[in-house]
Amino acid sequence: MNKKEKAALKAAEYIKDNMVLGLGTGSTAYYLIQKVGELVGKGYNLKCVATSESTLKIARDLNIPLFSPDEVDHIDLAIDGVDEIDLAFNAIKGGGGALLREKIVASLSKKVIWIMDDSKLVSTIGKFPLPVEIIRYGYKQLLKKLEALGFNPVLRLNHGEAFLTDNGNYIVDLHLGEGFNILKTKEILDGLVGVVESGLFLNLCDLIIVGSDQEARVIINKNK
Ligand code: 5RP
Repeated sequence: MNKKEKAALKAAEYIKDNMVLGLGTGSTAYYLIQKVGELVGKGYNLKCVATSESTLKIARDLNIPLFSPDEVDHIDLAIDGVDEIDLAFNAIKGGGGALLREKIVASLSKKVIWIMDDSKLVSTIGKFPLPVEIIRYGYKQLLKKLEALGFNPVLRLNHGEAFLTDNGNYIVDLHLGEGFNILKTKEILDGLVGVVESGLFLNLCDLIIVGSDQEARVIINKNK
């Protein structure tokens, strides 16, 4: 079993019958979705909210009952992947471009678990470029602004064309480097017109599960 699958299966132990679940996006969440499909097959009554069109498709193929965030009263538990996280629970997400829906689902969830292999747990975030979802209208002006701020923005491409999110927006990846000022950067990005949401997820999860060769280690966020 690989490290991502190990983490996903450990996270699945937190799933109880009759829960409303948020299903994350990416290669680690993939294993979790497979397990949810298995639980549904065994008769678990689960309602699921997908964080992306790709997750929606995987889940639909497994006959997992799917709902939009507006069709459920609440979400009990969201389980998602992460690109980089430090031990203060500052995280970068959005490598797969699903950060907006992931953040919406996380913010609606009573409990949030992130699953990962051990390469994602770092002492300082910033090596992984920070994804930011931006509006297409006037995006070149926004790129100039981000450049002037020293954020080293790179418009994400897909087969030579600008990558389009599930929400019809673009993604710009900011090459900030380790040790960037996390709070200041978030404040600046939150205040920029044209920015829809950033992939900075600060203190948003309750626990992480880190898959390694030896184990799936649970680390609880004591500050949330
Ligand atoms: C998608 C995400 C993913 O959770 C993140 O990129 C981790 O993906 P993977 O599990 O494939 O490494 O934020 O937008």
